[in-house]
Amino acid sequence: MKILNIVGARPNLMKIAPLIQAYAGLDGAESLLVHTGQHYDANMSDLFFHQLGIPEPDLNLGVGSASHAVQTAQIMTAFEPVVLEQKPDAVLVVGDVNSTIACGLVAVKLGVRLVHVEAGLRSFDREMPEEINRVLTDAISDLLFCTEPAGVANLRDEGISDERVHLVGNVMIDTLLQHRERAESSTVLADLGLTAGAYAVLTLHRPSNVDDPEVLGRLLDVLEVVAADGPVIFPVHPRTRTLLVRFGLDARIEAIENVRLLEPVGYLDFLKLMASARVVLTDSGGIQEETTILSVPCITLRENTERPITAELGTNQVVGQDPERILAAYRRALSGELGAGSVPPLWDGNAAQRIVEVLRKAL
Ligand code: UD1
Ligand code: UDP
Repeated sequence: MKILNIVGARPNLMKIAPLIQAYAGLDGAESLLVHTGQHYDANMSDLFFHQLGIPEPDLNLGVGSASHAVQTAQIMTAFEPVVLEQKPDAVLVVGDVNSTIACGLVAVKLGVRLVHVEAGLRSFDREMPEEINRVLTDAISDLLFCTEPAGVANLRDEGISDERVHLVGNVMIDTLLQHRERAESSTVLADLGLTAGAYAVLTLHRPSNVDDPEVLGRLLDVLEVVAADGPVIFPVHPRTRTLLVRFGLDARIEAIENVRLLEPVGYLDFLKLMASARVVLTDSGGIQEETTILSVPCITLRENTERPITAELGTNQVVGQDPERILAAYRRALSGELGAGSVPPLWDGNAAQRIVEVLRKAL
């Protein structure tokens, strides 16, 4: 059995790492890793290979950044000859980025079985590019692995037959649990002069937050209020950095006292930063899940979430972009009234093992 595994963007790396490890227990399996090159900066890609022990990709398609259509088309054009040459039994894609749908489409058009890990998540917001990628990838996948019950229900509602769908838990959490102890010895707090429990962490990269100067400007108003309480650690995504400069907001954010603008940080340091924060403000998908496991209050700066279990069981408050609502949630988080939350079913570190077991039987 030969499986081609696809990564492209930063969050794909935390998801693929435990699967690559789990294939080792699969007799007769050959697994190859293909990087589309969607993310290419060392601190958005290479760094995570080293920290998470992911082997060098067997192939890098080197597509880089472009518009949605151009990027998706370039990935497809570069990936098709790979599938023709390698003749895999299956292509496995994770998450919801352009690399996910592009490689998925190539696979099914060549009659190769498609496996989607993190299937079924829905924000029901078609303005999110990721929502289009999720719906389309699930529609063409042969095997669909879900992280939470809502994913299974969404796929059923879309008419995808139950026997293709498996609730297995969360591979991103496999990675977190595996590296949590190592992250404990990160020196990032001392390096940044931080005291555990006395700072906030912020990440922003959704187009709905960072592509519009008015929306981004209002989020900086919120940031000023939060920073008045203590340090705010903000590792800036490359998309956001570019837009802050383009909108002339870079000088404003640099002038806010207590805001620490960093380049994107490595996984272990970021895990340590989250675990010791008093609150995390974010529009990331994965960070909503990680803060749930870490029992750190998470304020999600989006109108919706495709990961509802993080709000139902976990520490997540989904509050949107309105400054009043964000600050009300922030105060609730600081008051401690929200509690520690609980661990979603099957988020136990064994999701990749469950996936590989299903693959062994199915392929
Ligand atoms: C992509 C995913 C998003 C995911 C995010 C994770 C899509 C449609 N979006 O968003 O779902 O949450 O990754 O981080 O697939 N850039 C660099 N260096 C890099 C990568 C990007 O400078 O290594 C800059 C470029 O200016 C580029 C911009 O970031 O144009 C956006 O990159 P892109 O991959 O298109 O989308 P993201 O916003 O990163
Ligand atoms: N992350 C990281 N360094 C950072 C910011 C995020 O290691 O500076 C990790 C984070 O812990 C999670 C993943 O990157 O594992 C989330 O990626 P991102 O927010 O880019 O994508 P999303 O999950 O929104 O698709």
